[in-house]
Formats: sequence, structure tokens, C-alpha cells
Amino acid sequence: MERDFLSRYGVYQIYPMSFCDANGDGKGDIPGILSKLDYLQSLGVRVIWFSPLYPSPMWDMGYDIADYYDINPIFGTMADFDLLMEETKRRGMRVIMDLVVNHTSDQHPWFLEALRNPDSKYRDYYIFRKGKGKNGRKPPNNWTSTFFGSAWKEVPEEQGTFYLHLYSEHQPDLNWHNEAVYQEVKKIVEYWMDKGVYGFRCDVISEIYKESLEDGKRGMPGRPTGFEHYIATPGCHRILKRLRKEVIEPRHGVLIGECYGVERDQAAAFLDDELDTLFGFEITDPGIFKKTMASERFRQILMSWQKLECNGNYLENHDQHRAIGKYVREGPFEKEGGKMLIALLCSLKGVPFFFQGQEIGMKDYRHLSLEESHDAVAHFLDGMLKRYWMPKPLRRWFARKYGRDDARCPMPFLPESGHGFTNSSVEPWQKFNELSSRINVALEEKDETSILHFFRRCLRLRQVDDVLSLGNIRFLPSDEEVLLFLRERKGAKRLCVFNLSDKEKPIPSLVLENTTKNLLLSNYLHGKKEESLLPYEFGIYAIK
Ligand code: GLC
Repeated sequence: MERDFLSRYGVYQIYPMSFCDANGDGKGDIPGILSKLDYLQSLGVRVIWFSPLYPSPMWDMGYDIADYYDINPIFGTMADFDLLMEETKRRGMRVIMDLVVNHTSDQHPWFLEALRNPDSKYRDYYIFRKGKGKNGRKPPNNWTSTFFGSAWKEVPEEQGTFYLHLYSEHQPDLNWHNEAVYQEVKKIVEYWMDKGVYGFRCDVISEIYKESLEDGKRGMPGRPTGFEHYIATPGCHRILKRLRKEVIEPRHGVLIGECYGVERDQAAAFLDDELDTLFGFEITDPGIFKKTMASERFRQILMSWQKLECNGNYLENHDQHRAIGKYVREGPFEKEGGKMLIALLCSLKGVPFFFQGQEIGMKDYRHLSLEESHDAVAHFLDGMLKRYWMPKPLRRWFARKYGRDDARCPMPFLPESGHGFTNSSVEPWQKFNELSSRINVALEEKDETSILHFFRRCLRLRQVDDVLSLGNIRFLPSDEEVLLFLRERKGAKRLCVFNLSDKEKPIPSLVLENTTKNLLLSNYLHGKKEESLLPYEFGIYAIK
């Protein structure tokens, strides 16, 4: 079963702009990725998810697609992609494409035609409405965009007519009430699957179907206004069921859903003949002042999402801050902490997801100025706060907190200049993280105790151990800041203990009773004290 395949092998995410640059223009590309397939294979990676590779004006770094049937010239050609499919297949790897179909780019020919000719059939591919107010110049409803401000943009050439965009105005929303939109997406999915693609990571899939365009309730903190009219709607479920049945299932493919805004109790329905696995946001959403370190809240969220049949377990991706510094305190125990988080992802039920660089314990890049930032969110947020006269230092704090650049730096393979990301002397599209000369693949290869070596061992353990990858999960009572659980399958058991804090904690008696002789993996092999769990210590034990 495909869900089992994903659970066993996990998924590694590549952010193409930042992975490896072969043509020396400072931007990652497919030939660069090809040159690193042996590295990925050595990690044990079997499934790769690529953030969008399609042609795009890059307003939202490719999440604004201008052509669903081609490859962005920044990344190469279709011939390069075909070679990528061949080379991954030869190594037993499978490829997942990003499918961004809540919206297109405003440069997509459908949208250009919809603007040029209001009578064209493409007009109804999008959501155009008349404005309100005396002269019709007010937006059709009070919805706000996830990227701040109104979710409606007035068409410059047609006063009083607006189109909906839940993200930036350069990302007009598709109208999923129109059967033609479904047929177009079906064709796109078939096209890539015929090329051998294994499946899709479906971008903000939880919000594609707007059940109504009525005004939204105001004042739901952290939620754009209008939210309740388009998150996890019955229409969205109908579409996913149909796509799965008509296209995905016959081809033994997979659908992974980014379920933005979906509550835990709404999530299960998406796993019922729709998605193979999904990402919720509770675990990574920092809120404004919420405590996100290893806290009771973190534990509760984690345990509650584990009740799902197949949760997507992730701590990092291109939209999030790096895990070290967020969940794990920076400092003397950060290396153990980084290993512990990888082990946690490899021990939970569901599908583990890793973001490029996580295998070396990469951290956020904190010195990027707003001027150097390519992230739409950072800029929109700054612009909005400026309108409220917020002073610059505070604005920068918000941009840092919500901006998404910090984890998007080029991947460092080597300590020296260019870092093996590029061999040219051009400035990369995004600055290197200044830690790249210290945290990089080559140095970690030489160090047996590195996060990189640990990552290989850990992923391998999950891949060969059916109990860890496919077993049921049962949480046991434990000290707060400690996670204790059992994975069970066909009578075999694994006991897993994780100290989520940077303080010593008493060892749960169940762990003591099971002694170290059954230890399958830990992050502290040397100098271990018997009576306590050291900072961020974890252990996975085979027990009777
Ligand atoms: C998803 C993507 C994010 C993008 C947004 C709009 O959340 O991960 O990068 O900005 O969708 O497409």
C-alpha cells in the first residue's frame, strides 16, 4: 500500500532554488540536483518532494505557476527533468511534485485571457465579482488574504470588478465550482504521472473550494477573515475523492495535502479515500507569543495529531524556521537536540518529512535584511505594519518572526566559498547562511558523531523496522517534557522515550526495567548516566 511505503521511507523535500547550482548562475537547478542524487541515496532517501519546478514569475518563489506543463528555465529544461526521472528511478527513488491549484500566477495564460476578454471561457476559471458600495469600488466581501490586506483586487481596466486572491494579488484563486477547472487539473496530474511522477504534495489544498462568498466573521485571531467559508468544505472533500478515484488510485500514486487552517478534528476526513497523508499547522505555527519549545502544549498537540491514521510528521520546511533554535534551545546541547528531533520524526506513526539541510542540523540565517529578502510575506507584512506607523525595529521583529527566508539559504556541501552549492563566484540568489563554513556536509561526513551520520542510521532503522514505521502507537504517562510511547506490531514492541527539554529528567521506570541491552538507538552512547535522562536524550528500545 502506498501509505505504507511513505510511512516506511519518509520524504525528503528539495527547495530547487537552494539545493545545487550546476550552471553557475547562483540559482539551484535540475542538473545540480542530478549531481547530488548519490548523496541523497547515501542518506537513504527514497522519496523526494520538489517545491515547484514549473515556469513562474516567482512572486511567491514558484507557488505562482504560469505553466503547469513545463519546467522553469531557471531550473533547466524538460529534457533535464526527464533525465531526473530516469536517474531517480534507477536508484529506486520516487518523485513527488508540488501541485499548486488553489491559485495560478496572474501571468498564467488563463488569467491573462480572462482579463483581456471578459467573455472568454477563462473568466469563469477565476472568481470575479462586482464591487460593493455606492460606486461599486468596495471589495465584494470583507475577506482578508493570508498575505494580509483585502483578498480582492480591483481589475485595473474594469472599475468596479474585483478578483479573489487568498494569497498575493499575483496569485488569483481558481474557481473550483467550474467543472472545467477540475478537468484542467486532472489533465495536469495525468501528464506528470505519465512521466513517471509518484504523486503530488497539494499546496493549501484545504481551501480550494469556496462554499460561499458571504462576509466572514471578524476577529478570529491568527485567521484571515472569511476563513470559515473555505476551509475543509464539503466541496473540497468531493473534489479530492474524485481526483483520487479517477487519477491517483488507478496509477498507484500518492496525494499529500498541505491542510492549512484545518483543525485536528477536521483532519481525519481528509484521510478517508482522499489524501495519503497531510500536514497540519498546529505543531509548527509559532503564534505571536506562544511558547513553542518542548512544552506541555507541544506534547499535547503532537499526541493529538498522532491519533490520525497517517499524519505527516514534520518540523521544518521552506515556510518554517529551522527546528534547532525553535523547538530545541541553541547552546551546548543543540546537537543532541537536533538528533532527538530527527529520531522523533523517525519514531512516530505516520510519514516523516525532512527538509534539505535538516540532516546536517542547519539553523536559521538571521542576518538577512528586509531589502535582501525574496519572501513575499516579509515584504507584505512590513508594508502593512508601515501603514499603521509601526516603528522600524518592531516591524523588523515581525518580519523575522513571520518571514520565510531563514531556512531557504543555499545548501552547504563544502566549507569553502561557494560551499559546493555553486562553483561560480557569482553571489547566490540568497545569501549563504554564515554558519555554512561550520555546518556543512563535508565536515559532517568526517565526523562520526555528526548529525549527518546519525540521520543515516536513524532513517535506516525506521526503514528496516516495520514496528517503528508501521506499528500502532500508544502514549504512556510520563513527566511533562518527556514523551514516552510504545509502537506495537504483530506482537513486537518498541519503547520510545524522548526528553524534550534541555534539563536532566528522571528515567521513567519502564525504561529502567528494560535496560540498555535492548537499546536500538540513542543520541548519548558515551558517558550515559543510568539514573537520569540527559538533556534531549532519547532512546528506542526493543522490548518484550
Ligand atoms: C503554501 C506554500 C507557501 C506558499 C503558499 C501559497 O503554504 O508552502 O510557500 O506561499 O502555499 O501558495
